[in-house]
Amino acid sequence: MLSSLALFTSYLALSTSAVNVPRLERRAQCAASLTIAEASSISVATTLQAHYYDSSTGQYNGGSLWTDANAFEDLHNLMLGADIDTWSAVSDNCFICQAALNPSTDWVSLLGGANDDSLWVILSLWKIADYKSARGLSNSAYLDAAATIYNLMEAQVDDTCGGGIWWSTAHTYKNAVTNELFIYASADGFLRGGGETYLNNAIATWNWLSNSGMRNSQGLFNDGLTQDGTCVNNGETTWIYNQGVIASGLAALYAATGSSNATLLDQAEITLDATVALLTENDILKESCDDALSGGTVCDADQQLFKGLWTKHVQYYLDMANDAARTAKYSPFLGSQMSAVFHFGTDASDDVGSVWYAPSQGGSIFTPKTSTSGLEAHISAAKYGPC
Ligand SMILES: *[C@@H]1O[C@H](CO)[C@@H](O)[C@H](O)[C@H]1NC(C)=O
Repeated sequence: MLSSLALFTSYLALSTSAVNVPRLERRAQCAASLTIAEASSISVATTLQAHYYDSSTGQYNGGSLWTDANAFEDLHNLMLGADIDTWSAVSDNCFICQAALNPSTDWVSLLGGANDDSLWVILSLWKIADYKSARGLSNSAYLDAAATIYNLMEAQVDDTCGGGIWWSTAHTYKNAVTNELFIYASADGFLRGGGETYLNNAIATWNWLSNSGMRNSQGLFNDGLTQDGTCVNNGETTWIYNQGVIASGLAALYAATGSSNATLLDQAEITLDATVALLTENDILKESCDDALSGGTVCDADQQLFKGLWTKHVQYYLDMANDAARTAKYSPFLGSQMSAVFHFGTDASDDVGSVWYAPSQGGSIFTPKTSTSGLEAHISAAKYGPC
């Protein structure tokens, strides 16, 4: 009796803390720009689904596990933000949704050993669960699947290079994105009632990452650490998503620790500000592989999604920071990204290409990943762009 009472009490304490955290699913204070941005993202999303989604498989033609997971997350993020139900069928039909709804799913096999992909899947399942819950529907299958995957991820942390989570189950590489995602999943998981272990994982991983040398003197995260045992910054590309996912993770950690340690937000903004200063052209995000001219470099299937992910995780950063001054600081930049996507990135069919920083002169490519990336810029600006 005593122990079940204690369990019940601690469950109450956890669920109370989860309820108290602002989960700002809707932003209604600027109705006019919200309507414009939503109209854009809704037509971009409609095109994404019409051009690429195959409801017979629950996958995107030309997609992949982690990019599909992000697209599903975005559709639900949009439905929550706009208070619409246009893609509600996707919540049951998408292939990771079907896997979550099937209790005998072999997640180890489905996830294929990629820990970063697995963490993206957790974030997607949580957003789908939020949507189901907001509509009064059961979300337990999605939450259970996310918890199962999180437990697999926790076992991927060890002391090689002093700590951190491995990029894959092959245990060859410790890199930025996997650790940033693990901080966000751990801190947000705690806010969702996952318990102290989640919080401790978030704190330990940030302490390790912040001392790992992966963030360079410019404030940008390089790809990862050397794999020859020296465990120093490998100097590889400062991909744009790595500069955004750290911010959502730190803001979730800020919220998880009582919304009092502003140092965590200031740390996030070192990297957000470096992104704006260094990874842009004319104030628009430009990946090192982006080229408006035909015959130049072309971002690969993963890289095509990175810019949008930065905007999405800035949205999550601002959701969790819940601070008017910090929102005002990034609002114009988010508006500019949306405008560039609209004017430079979008074709006549509302498909969004890979290049945002200039009108395409043949170099922008159009795939489900680039369309998803553009959708993310619209959704983020719909929520936090200027009036
Ligand atoms: C606030 O966060 C910073 C950055 O991680 C950390 O060094 C510091 O110890 C934290 N302060 C408190 C009071 O927890």
